Amino acid sequence: MTLRKIARMGHPVLLGRAAAIDDPTSAEMRRLAADMIETMQDSQGIGIAAPQVHEGVRLIIARPPPAGTEPAAPMVLFNPEISPQGEDRDEAFEGCLSIPGLRGLVPRWSRVAWRAVDPEGMRIEGVAEGLLARILQHEVDHLDGILFPMRMTDLRQLAFERELELLKAWRAEPGGAGGSVG
Ligand code: NI
Repeated sequence: MTLRKIARMGHPVLLGRAAAIDDPTSAEMRRLAADMIETMQDSQGIGIAAPQVHEGVRLIIARPPPAGTEPAAPMVLFNPEISPQGEDRDEAFEGCLSIPGLRGLVPRWSRVAWRAVDPEGMRIEGVAEGLLARILQHEVDHLDGILFPMRMTDLRQLAFERELELLKAWRAEPGGAGGSVG
């Protein structure tokens, strides 16, 4: 496995629509998925999309929140599709490996159905909510050239990590932006 260089905001590879993958079982795709997992873990990320490592193809990795004491295995999703379940949305601060040092408040669907193809070429599907639903929406957005600031509804709520606690305190003040903070 190899650590891949991460594309940062402004690089055109992050702005295009990624191509569907014909054969997820190919050696090339196996290697790409393994490298993306290693790159994500090295960067302490909880998700990564192929365009972030300069590959314009529809592959994402998501690290589900741990169930119990065991760390969950990363999800490897080829050609993923998601659809919202219900009308509920949540707001929470997100970061992105391609936008280091910044966090922004992003509304996302609370619950999504997902379907994809796994590394063995099998169709898989499920329903995700909470943090995993947010990760999947963030990563699938990368496949369509969308970065989290493009989903924000109030750019005052984009902050450097060191200022994030100050921003959250301001949000809670009378006259601040209010709302829940995740
Ligand atoms: Ni990202």
